[in-house]
Amino acid sequence: MESGEKREFAARAASAVSDAAAASGGMAFDQCVDVYDERPRLAMHAAARDRRPACLVAAIPAHPVLIRESGHACYRRGVVALPESAEPQAFKAFEHERWQSAARVYDAEFGRLTSQIAPFLLDAAGVTRGVRMLDLASGPGYVAAGASARGAKVTGTDFASEMLALAREQHPGLTFEVADAEALPFGEGEFEAATMGFLVGHLGRPAVAVREACRVLRRGGRLAIAWWLPPQRCIPFAIVTESIRTRGRMDVGLPPAPPFELFGDPAMLHALLSESGFSGVESVEVPMVWRLDTAEEMFDAYLNGTARTAGALRRQTPEALAAIRAEVIARCAPFRTTRGLELPMPAHVASGIKP
Ligand SMILES: C[S@@+](CC[C@H](N)C(=O)[O-])C[C@H]1O[C@@H](n2cnc3c(N)ncnc32)[C@H](O)[C@@H]1O
Repeated sequence: MESGEKREFAARAASAVSDAAAASGGMAFDQCVDVYDERPRLAMHAAARDRRPACLVAAIPAHPVLIRESGHACYRRGVVALPESAEPQAFKAFEHERWQSAARVYDAEFGRLTSQIAPFLLDAAGVTRGVRMLDLASGPGYVAAGASARGAKVTGTDFASEMLALAREQHPGLTFEVADAEALPFGEGEFEAATMGFLVGHLGRPAVAVREACRVLRRGGRLAIAWWLPPQRCIPFAIVTESIRTRGRMDVGLPPAPPFELFGDPAMLHALLSESGFSGVESVEVPMVWRLDTAEEMFDAYLNGTARTAGALRRQTPEALAAIRAEVIARCAPFRTTRGLELPMPAHVASGIKP
């Protein structure tokens, strides 16, 4: 962080710590660490080991996040406040416009990657024959199709009609409805299971969507959420982000939103579920691989088949965009194999039960 940002972060951290103390009934917090630093986990574990109260303050200047620790296991007590976009409607409009335009490229390029998560999501949500299941942010319908193959009664939803047009084309026997995950058009307890594949990092108000999923589940119903592990492990994210950072500009005026990689931290994904009403939260890692013919194909997939990353790329100058493209291609070189490119894109699936 630059020194101005550090000062701003320190001021926000101080106020976040006093909010945490107030929220916990005056408990004194003696740990305050920056999650972009490598040490917070160690600090949190040490605090837990010594049974000291600790407070983890995420380095998200616009959205301080607090994790309160008051016992043995780190993070068990959960997040006090989850981040939200300061302009949720503007962010949603941006995402909606991007997904409408990106649908076909997303399906052609990312579908073979994200569809790998389907069996893990379905297992975590307890989807078997006859289960009434809601798939949120279905995109072209990979998870919904997997649920139907298991004999579940699935309703697929997405806010992008272009995504659902693909889903209906590819799975004509299934039910798909346009729905905003943050305001679902379903009644309480209508479903026995729900899935959210690669949605939470695309939401301005992720906790609102998870609370909505909780509302439409019946008691004992399970929600399973999949999201990417941090960019250090998801190589394409690291390559594209670093290329933009070194050859272009990161700050291109996109509507504000929680950081894309926020839920790469298992603690944050757990907290999202437990703070939104779920119990029995657990998770598994899923080692996924993205196979492409060339690095050029990967760059084009991001430019034309994504939301925020495409938005950031499209707002560069033509010279910067060309330099970013060259940088992406160079950084992909170590991942070339005789079959093309093979890029690690591990994800995790966290699930919880509606009490
Ligand atoms: C990365 S894609 C994931 C699609 C699919 N689940 C998969 O795993 O490939 C994100 C999807 O979320 C949808 N989406 C984003 N915000 C949404 C919202 N507020 N409500 C419903 N769908 C949303 C997009 O239209 C897009 O289809």
